[in-house]
Amino acid sequence: MNPLRLIATALCCVAIVFGGLTFSSDAQLDPNFYGKTCPQLQSIVYQILSNVATKDPRMPASLIRLHFHDCFVQGCDASVLLNKTSTIVTEQDALPNINSLRGLDVINQIKTAIEKACPNTVSCADILTLSAGISSVLTGGPGPSFTLTQLKSAFADQGLTTLDLVSLSGAHTFGRSRCFLFSDRLYNFSNTGKPDPTLDATYLKVLQKQCPQNGPGDTRVNFDPTTPDILDKNYYNNLQVKKGLLQSDQELFSTPGADTIGIVNNFANNQNAFFQNFANSMIRMGNIGVLTGKKGEIRTQCNFVNKKKKSPELDITGVTSTESIEGGVVSSI
Ligand code: HEM
Repeated sequence: MNPLRLIATALCCVAIVFGGLTFSSDAQLDPNFYGKTCPQLQSIVYQILSNVATKDPRMPASLIRLHFHDCFVQGCDASVLLNKTSTIVTEQDALPNINSLRGLDVINQIKTAIEKACPNTVSCADILTLSAGISSVLTGGPGPSFTLTQLKSAFADQGLTTLDLVSLSGAHTFGRSRCFLFSDRLYNFSNTGKPDPTLDATYLKVLQKQCPQNGPGDTRVNFDPTTPDILDKNYYNNLQVKKGLLQSDQELFSTPGADTIGIVNNFANNQNAFFQNFANSMIRMGNIGVLTGKKGEIRTQCNFVNKKKKSPELDITGVTSTESIEGGVVSSI
């Protein structure tokens, strides 16, 4: 499978999630939701992605991460697009999201192109209860220093398996991480005053050069030192030779006796197996916490929850933006 097409397919899941849900009470997400109303949807996404990737090779990585962050904070509801208002703590301000938000412009571009090609068919899915999300917004999912046990538990909390964990971590085959997120591994791992022993000695030196001790923590380093902008199986080959960038990456291979080691070895030997599992797990991740039927609402503008309606069935008190959604305050995506 062409890696860019794989990413486009994954992002179409985003578009479909952004695109809203049917409102029957037993509604399910449907990958062919726009099959009739907007059959060009996937090719539009692919086209825009191809253009964007040519100009900015890191962008596909940033988009995939944006989707991950949207899904791990209160489900995939495009709430990462919500603007801050007096009643909404926006995911956009969450520290872990800052690096991903560069993807928002492209999402806007995709939305605009889809709306042009298929007027009045695509809108935004949303949830009604935003208030409970505040603490998770501020922590925003698993951390780079998580152990394997913590990673498994963070994924299990979202209904995802160990296989999903290993497959989806393969997204770290491209993109960048800022130094401060892993520099403890280079100088003072677990307060030992020494580097992480599961880090290859030559790679350690390379990273120490890129991220000097007490240097600027926001310097960006490639996740994959071999093919930094390509979605391929090299992430797993890197783990086999102790060249995982984050502790959470290397844990998958270097935790003694772990059931993840066999999966890493399989993907390291077989790119098709990785692609197939990555696609499956992206779909599983795209289904996290999606609200169907009357539990959710389709946002008329992605950046705001809908204006409060007086409805006997839907109590949306306390979740409605006090800002006006009229008057062109925000771009309509
Ligand atoms: C397993 C737990 C995970 C942890 C601990 C983790 C952690 C991180 C961290 C610390 C960064 C660097 C952020 C920055 O510099 O601001 C990052 C970047 C990235 N993550 Fe993850 N991540 C995880 C899972 C995932 C998943 C499931 C995906 C997608 C399926 C993903 C996709 C990415 C991508 C593509 C980047 C690079 C983004 C860019 O360059 O703009 N990560 N991740």
